[in-house]
Amino acid sequence: MIQEVFLNQFGAKPELSYQAPGRVNLIGEHTDYNQGFVLPLAIEQTTQVSISKNNGQIFRIYSQNTGELIETSSPLDEIDLSTWAKYPLAVIQLLEIGNQGLDIAISSEVPIGAGLSSSAALECSVASAVNELLDLGKDRKELALLCQKAENTVIGAPTGNMDQLASLFSEKDKAVFIDCQTSELQLVELGFDEAGLELLVIDTRTSHDLADGDYGNRRNECFSAAQQLRLSSLRQLSIRDLDGIDASLSKIEFKRVRHVVYENARVLEAVQAIKEKDFQTLGGLMVLSHKSMRDDFEISTPELDTAVEVAMSSSALGARMTGGGFGGSAIALVKTENKQAITADIYEAFESKGFKTPSIFGVRASSGAKRLGSA
Ligand code: GLA
Repeated sequence: MIQEVFLNQFGAKPELSYQAPGRVNLIGEHTDYNQGFVLPLAIEQTTQVSISKNNGQIFRIYSQNTGELIETSSPLDEIDLSTWAKYPLAVIQLLEIGNQGLDIAISSEVPIGAGLSSSAALECSVASAVNELLDLGKDRKELALLCQKAENTVIGAPTGNMDQLASLFSEKDKAVFIDCQTSELQLVELGFDEAGLELLVIDTRTSHDLADGDYGNRRNECFSAAQQLRLSSLRQLSIRDLDGIDASLSKIEFKRVRHVVYENARVLEAVQAIKEKDFQTLGGLMVLSHKSMRDDFEISTPELDTAVEVAMSSSALGARMTGGGFGGSAIALVKTENKQAITADIYEAFESKGFKTPSIFGVRASSGAKRLGSA
């Protein structure tokens, strides 16, 4: 337990502890920074944080995962971008807590670099814990946007706000429908259990780093297209606008725009399908979303395509890559009774193509960040 990790490291019980989850995105990819719609859900895997004030002005942050203790006299010092501690330090820097020193222990179950938002889980758990410990009075939306800002301005990953909102607002058995223009949220009851369905994650174990150039390039292409069309964001476009704009954009930009416009429409249809318990339609939308990311947004990989194709030919209702792309994970919506066969087929296909052995596991929609008991 994180409280014991803290006790072993710092020699006293922590004042409080928090956890925040990673996420998968059911549908709506690369739409968040285009002010569009997304539909993520929190997974059971969380990052846990225990924290206390110390009497100095020193920040001591211990990670159980790496066994490292990082000490710094101020989060305002240049943050070392090569260490995991950049995430908690970036958040603490933006929380502007003055001279108050902190002792923090961290432990995470969220796989790193798998497209499951391990960084958002870390940011949101630390932000929630510091906010409560120091009585900073920020609400969850403010914390989510602050964590996004930490990611964008301090860490240098130009992400949208989906992951942090999902980590803070999710609830058990629900997905979070987010309008990223207003950050308005609506919880959508999934009903997977009752329908005998499960969501599988296929972590391809190929790396994915949002601060390298590819993610940012896609974002720039979208922003440049919006600018040429004199729009504040691609959110303002609907499917019927597409015919009229292809001449104003390069071929590549048009493809990027087409993905975003159709993906926004698919999220709205997916929410409707879930409400109607029409999981065949939901599955179909997931597959269309994947094809659009493969062909128009060009962020898939052979491993992700294989995971999706094999899941579909082996009776999944739907499958798609999830998250930023260029590696990471795919998800598949499957009947529980077919789960084992689908999993076996994917392992076999990966082996026969000489890919790394994936990690395949079921996820349940879980609750967002919460305070842990002191036991
Ligand atoms: C990453 C980013 C999100 C979002 C997705 C793609 O997870 O952190 O903000 O842009 O990629 O949908």
